[in-house]
Amino acid sequence: VTGEPRKPGSAIEEGASLLPLTAHASPSYPFGDLRRTEFPWTGETIYLNNASVGPLPERTRVALEAFNRKRAAPHQLPDRDLVATLAESRRLVAQLIGGSPEEIALTINTGYGLSLAARALPLQSGDIVIASNREFPANVYPWMLLKDIGVTLELAPTTNDGWPDEDHLIERLRDPRVRVLAVSLVQFSNGYTVDLARLSAATRAAGVYLVVDAIQAVGQIPVDLRETPVDLLACGAQKWLLSPWGSGFVYVRRELISQLVPAITGWMAFEGTDDFSRLTEYSDTLRGDARRFELITLPYQDFAGMNESLRLLLELGIPRIQRHLRSLHQPVLAWAADAGARIVSPTGDRGSGILCVAPRDLGSAFRALKAARVVCSMREGAIRLSPHAYNSQEDMGRVVEILEQG
Ligand SMILES: Cc1ncc(COP(=O)(O)O)c(C=O)c1O
Repeated sequence: VTGEPRKPGSAIEEGASLLPLTAHASPSYPFGDLRRTEFPWTGETIYLNNASVGPLPERTRVALEAFNRKRAAPHQLPDRDLVATLAESRRLVAQLIGGSPEEIALTINTGYGLSLAARALPLQSGDIVIASNREFPANVYPWMLLKDIGVTLELAPTTNDGWPDEDHLIERLRDPRVRVLAVSLVQFSNGYTVDLARLSAATRAAGVYLVVDAIQAVGQIPVDLRETPVDLLACGAQKWLLSPWGSGFVYVRRELISQLVPAITGWMAFEGTDDFSRLTEYSDTLRGDARRFELITLPYQDFAGMNESLRLLLELGIPRIQRHLRSLHQPVLAWAADAGARIVSPTGDRGSGILCVAPRDLGSAFRALKAARVVCSMREGAIRLSPHAYNSQEDMGRVVEILEQG
């Protein structure tokens, strides 16, 4: 249901589902024609801001337009196509993170999934939720609000580097009052990637819920929840998943689904609504799968778009994207070592595609990058560079040229 026939001769013609990954592929740019076919504006602008907003690939933009054209005359979008669009979204998300479609609820952003966790997990007065004190606010405020039922959010100090202190977090799991550990898989302000396997094992052993904000991770680092079990994982698709605003998901571990009752609900969360001819035969039996957490009606067009973007990312391969992003960091790391600029991000196993650098004159370096049409962000006292699959070594070479002039 996601698209009209694509125009012959265009880079995304019908049947060309696999990218010509070998065309022009070189070790420094492994994705062939990707820049030209899916991100044609990359010749003019150096966009290194995926940790804020990911661009839409051409195939996604085309799918959105096709979907909205049908939406203008909605008889072209029968219910079965809408249902199939969302089913495909759950399937693709499950493939991406190593879950099953029954464990995926579609949401409009990350905050919905984190709020679901805060309100549906069985917490009571005296319980503690622990998180690091530099978490993004989406993973703080839903927990803070629990003070209304006597639950405390404990904000744990970070290490001297400003990264989550995993030793301390794990140590705190020994306190029987600690019931939830809430972490971002990748930190928004420095790209630190937590050791999910370690936190998973420690929370399983302590009987503590592990809730993960994964928006800065999924799409740029491999995630396989079969190997690193978590309880809930919330993710908006608007950044590294290159998808429309209004698309996202929450994963709920299978065994937990039937135990959690959502605090707010939608009419399709119930078994009784399967038969549209008898909707007023109400029954309060929630669905057995994660659709019990969905707030239908959802933005179908955005999920149709997300499906295209997820297919593209799966074709490219997340491990290949991860390797590519690491190689893109190298020229900036070499420059920083020479220039004595501080690198705020971890560069080893705990690193990610986000590279944060604090040159001596931060403000003027940031202004120079902006003036040269390099799009990036300033976060927590550093310049945050967040490249994706479409960025090239030439892009990063240009960044270094600009930084060298500063
Ligand atoms: C770690 C993290 N969580 C959540 C969000 C966004 O939350 P939402 O999708 O609810 O807007 C961001 C960035 O905007 C983020 O960096």
